[in-house]
Amino acid sequence: MQKIVSLAKRRGFVFLSSEIYGGFGSCYDFGPLGAEMKNNVKNAWRKEMTRAQEDIVLLDAAILMSPKIWEASGHLSAGFADELVECKKCHHRFRKDFLKGDKCPDCGGETTLPRKFNLMMKTFVGPLEEKSSETYLRAETCQGIYVNFNNVLNSMRLKIPFGVAQIGKAFRNEITPGNFIFRTREFEQMEMQWFCRPETADKFFEYWLKTRLEWYFNLGIKKENIRTREVQKGDLAHYAKRAVDIEYKFPFGWQEIEGIHNRGDWDLSNHAKYSGQDLRYSDEASGEKYFPYIIETSVGADRSFLTFFVDAYAEIKGGRTKTTEATKEEEIMLKLHKDLAPVKIAVLPLVKNKPELVKQAKEVYQLLKPHFATQYDDAGSIGRRYRRQDEIGTLLAITVDFDTSKKKDVTLRDRDSMKQERVKIKDLLKTIRERMEN
Ligand code: GAP
Repeated sequence: MQKIVSLAKRRGFVFLSSEIYGGFGSCYDFGPLGAEMKNNVKNAWRKEMTRAQEDIVLLDAAILMSPKIWEASGHLSAGFADELVECKKCHHRFRKDFLKGDKCPDCGGETTLPRKFNLMMKTFVGPLEEKSSETYLRAETCQGIYVNFNNVLNSMRLKIPFGVAQIGKAFRNEITPGNFIFRTREFEQMEMQWFCRPETADKFFEYWLKTRLEWYFNLGIKKENIRTREVQKGDLAHYAKRAVDIEYKFPFGWQEIEGIHNRGDWDLSNHAKYSGQDLRYSDEASGEKYFPYIIETSVGADRSFLTFFVDAYAEIKGGRTKTTEATKEEEIMLKLHKDLAPVKIAVLPLVKNKPELVKQAKEVYQLLKPHFATQYDDAGSIGRRYRRQDEIGTLLAITVDFDTSKKKDVTLRDRDSMKQERVKIKDLLKTIRERMEN
């Protein structure tokens, strides 16, 4: 894991937040390549949910909402609290369920009895810091979907079953954040709420579980690194009738990356009760009025990012690029799926001291840049530059060499097969587009 964290920092994927001040609260920033890649992850999710699937619309609700929402949702009660223990000696605090024994893992000291610690992050809205202006940063994005149920239904004239998908920030005052960006206090969620007739909920649960698993496999996650786990009754979240976790085999063990939940009518019926609004669905055909059941798919964008990053990470002992001067060194590769790679193409002039060749390389760069995430790199030997691109998962490297001006072609090198082919500059866009589509 150390190597992965170090690559993420060195190559501009993930930085510690507020690093020059020593870091802050286990928060992280996504660097230039990380921001590109995280957007690619979110786009892949949005494309899957709203294009590949039927009857799912998007929503982008506010982070700050009425505090009544969190009363109705159950998040302000014991249901959304972890058990916290404190070391009597060093005063470090831990989640009780993360401790292996009763002693402090940091100094071996005795720990206090557990007490409940609510994970909601409190803040004030407006100029007065008093009880009446208190609210919370949302702890899950889906509540914005439930409270907009009637708005979405009426404005889009939807019929059950249908879904609402949303991507956005969520905040939890985690007692024990950690494992890099796996568990943080500020993170992004990608959640879809599927509203259906109660008697169809079980069927849709299976459908969404299968569909979500396929999403990971289609984006290149190795089958052996994914498994599902039925959450036992006693461990279910306060809103869930049933939950299955999709787990990934991280270097620090099997961990949840996504939850599929049957939330029943918990959310809509509670919001109806607390708000006094009728949130039942009217079935025009049968004349029935009922609270739909909700099947939820919920995944962290940051956790998804980490999953794809870890799964793509490969070390090639002895090196594979024969043109490098240091073939004995270990080569690092990010075998990212083409839709997720932050840089699609690198344009590499063979040398940087021949003006004609540099001019042509810049023209190729300008030709491709509006269409694909493209980098121009002229620093160091060509072998070293290939390796630098492999390390960030760049799909194609284009070399502009001494033949280019005569033949009007370039070398196209494929990241995975390392095959090189000559392509005419005039055919370059078409050839690359074809590669990206397949
Ligand atoms: N709306 C349901 C819900 O929020 P959850 O199991 O608490 O369910 C869903 O969270 C997903 O959100 C998790 O599977 C994980 O991917 C992500 N997530 C939750 N807490 C997180 C944290 N502290 N840091 C990063 N991601 C987190």
